[in-house]
Amino acid sequence: MANAAATLAETAEHVTVSAHANGFAAEIGGVNLSQGVSDSEFARIHQAFLDHKVLVFRDQPLEDAAHQAFGARFGTLDGHINKSTRQKNMPNVQIFSNVGSDGKTTGVHPEKGTLVWHTDKSYTATPSLTTMLRSPAIAKEGGDTLFADTARAYDALPEATKTRISSLRAVHDWARSRIKSGERPATEEEMAAAPPVDHPIARTHPETGRQTIYVGNHSSHVVGMTVPEGETLLAELEVHATQQQFIYRHKWRVNDVLMWDNRCTLHCVEPYDAAKEKRAVHRVVVKGDKPV
Ligand code: OGA
Ligand code: MN
Repeated sequence: MANAAATLAETAEHVTVSAHANGFAAEIGGVNLSQGVSDSEFARIHQAFLDHKVLVFRDQPLEDAAHQAFGARFGTLDGHINKSTRQKNMPNVQIFSNVGSDGKTTGVHPEKGTLVWHTDKSYTATPSLTTMLRSPAIAKEGGDTLFADTARAYDALPEATKTRISSLRAVHDWARSRIKSGERPATEEEMAAAPPVDHPIARTHPETGRQTIYVGNHSSHVVGMTVPEGETLLAELEVHATQQQFIYRHKWRVNDVLMWDNRCTLHCVEPYDAAKEKRAVHRVVVKGDKPV
């Protein structure tokens, strides 16, 4: 019996992985994130993360400290470029919320860039590996988070397009991304902290080796093409990648923890009534590799 128990603990078979029919996104059960995860539990969660790209943990009433600790299992944490979103005493936890200090809605969705398809921090040299959200307040109508599987979308590209993009690089630009999404313009300090960078459009996932389409709202134009030509190509690739068959729609419940692989997905929030509905997410981001 002792041996059987040890084996169970080592392989963490009590951790359940329920994937969606097409394999994109999975719900993880059998863990209590507020108590932290063992090495074997982490190994199983990490494999599920690579296999399914988006993970959902239901019924996890987490404090910020435990949320941050779980994020840190995946790597080095990263603060948000917009410093006003950072928790004062825990700057690696960020809050996107439309609830004011008076407890009423502000009427404004924070960070409008989240309403359009993007992959987190692609405007930096080492963009986010994963983003992990939890949801103290959810909208009753709208406010779902949508994900597109950019590895499956890459596989479905015509061979001619794969060849065409194989050596192309896109410029990713925080300041321009803010203008496109209608946010307040980037400050001088933010622009200095995040100057434009370029990344391959066909990105190789560093852990799975799969090719992905690495575009989204932070991508601005294509190196070696006129701006309009590059914009057209990036828009075509985004439209392709965000077709219905590549999408997982996350319908929030209070105390969900939702994490995704930014290296092989795009995401956005569906609009909701920011004057009527309270919506708040706490967020922890793990830094990733330089895209290749
Ligand atoms: C993010 C983001 C989506 C959401 O935190 O990076 O895009 O559902 N948020 O709030
Ligand atoms: Mn995002």
